[in-house]
Amino acid sequence: MTERAILVIDAGTTSTRAMLFDPDGGCRGVAQRDITQHYPAPGLVEHDAAEIWDRTHTCIAEMVEAAGGANRIAAIGITNQRETIVFWRRSSGEPLARAIVWQDRRTAAACERLREAGVEPRVQQATGLVLDPYFSGSKIGWALSNWPEVAAAGSDLAVGTIESWLIWKLAGGRHVTDATNASRTALMDIGTGRWDEGLCDLFGAPQGALPEIVDCAGPIATTSLFGAAIPITGVAGDQQAAAIGQACLRPGDTKATYGTGAFVLTCTGSERTMSEHRLLATVGWQLHGQRSYALEGSVFVAGSLVKWLRDQLGFVATAAETEALARSVADNGGVFAVPALAGLGAPHWRPDARAAITGLSFATGRAHIVRAALEAMAHQTFDLMQAFTADGARWGTLRIDGGMSANDWIAQDLADILEAPVERPAFVETTALGAAMLAGVGCGLFGSLAETASAMRGETRRFTPAMDAPTRGARIAGWRQAVGRVLD
Ligand code: G3P
Repeated sequence: MTERAILVIDAGTTSTRAMLFDPDGGCRGVAQRDITQHYPAPGLVEHDAAEIWDRTHTCIAEMVEAAGGANRIAAIGITNQRETIVFWRRSSGEPLARAIVWQDRRTAAACERLREAGVEPRVQQATGLVLDPYFSGSKIGWALSNWPEVAAAGSDLAVGTIESWLIWKLAGGRHVTDATNASRTALMDIGTGRWDEGLCDLFGAPQGALPEIVDCAGPIATTSLFGAAIPITGVAGDQQAAAIGQACLRPGDTKATYGTGAFVLTCTGSERTMSEHRLLATVGWQLHGQRSYALEGSVFVAGSLVKWLRDQLGFVATAAETEALARSVADNGGVFAVPALAGLGAPHWRPDARAAITGLSFATGRAHIVRAALEAMAHQTFDLMQAFTADGARWGTLRIDGGMSANDWIAQDLADILEAPVERPAFVETTALGAAMLAGVGCGLFGSLAETASAMRGETRRFTPAMDAPTRGARIAGWRQAVGRVLD
């Protein structure tokens, strides 16, 4: 291969990776490192930002070597877990505290107080988001009030989401964020694409510590850490990148990514919709200062449920085992799993909710519980589908991706419960592909996202609904009952 590669950094919740893409979308290499999850108390989730940087740096260095050196890389694209917030010193570039992860619920009471004070309509109007500890704004305010070293940093303080932190480290102190990541902080007005001073005051976030908001593609920054200068020309939050990687570029196009959580995005084009059913309006991408929007349903627990079954409960040795276990029983045996391990996101938004496994009896075996856990993916997606439909954003075909979507049983179950066709690309790492596509546009390799989608996207496989109506009805009724208990 003589063409230069695109290097993608995919800094996710549980692991960070660097990947090499050819301009035809072929993936030439992957380096991956796990990220340590810190759970200081129930509901609290933290990351070590220095570890994220160190491990990401190691992955990049491996891929630069695999490419044959930095001058064999045309551009870097960055995609990342969103909302997770990092605090560091401008003078030293060192973190001041742990990063507060998107799953962290420590600001639930503060958000509740704001809701009681009647500010949610103001927040939703400007940001498209609801009041929930998920978003970065309340986390920033909490850190300033509770971590003296963060509060004492004054004008030396820099605050940013993971892509900002990585760009700062890569580009020697350039402090930027892209509009998709900024749209998840609850501090940006998604209509203007600028920080909203009133919201910064409301959440106690010092505007001077925040990064500059830039486009998702273009000359964003340059890194010289790997032997030769490499431009960073594409940046987007992981869910927006996945939507781009799935070519959800026209209004109505919809994708669902099953990673740590599950996130459904429907492209709404230049129109910013206002959900009336507890979905989020968010920036899909920003190019040449123009924003394209999406409607989003965010489910907090998807792959992390299988990880929990594997690592905490020892139910399976590998995630891949779950498919055979689910197939080994005729049905769930009346067992339903409500994976509210980090509260419930859309459409319920109940940070206080806790998970449940219902319907257990002496006849229940390990396979039933594993099957119930996998079925929860379709159940949670079904709840989102109803909210999208009620908001007037009916899904046609659902394009699925992410690690869990590689499980054929889950893909078919989704088609069955949603009663809609489900399409899965052969290459399910669409998050990274989307970042490569943005970087490709940003470095001038492609003229538009549509052009890069036709150049870089591969084959897809379709799953069509096959479940009989009574079985489907019983599943949905059982789920409703189980989720109802958790919400009580
Ligand atoms: O909003 C959180 C999301 O960006 C995390 O993504 O891939 O780690 O589930 P993931």
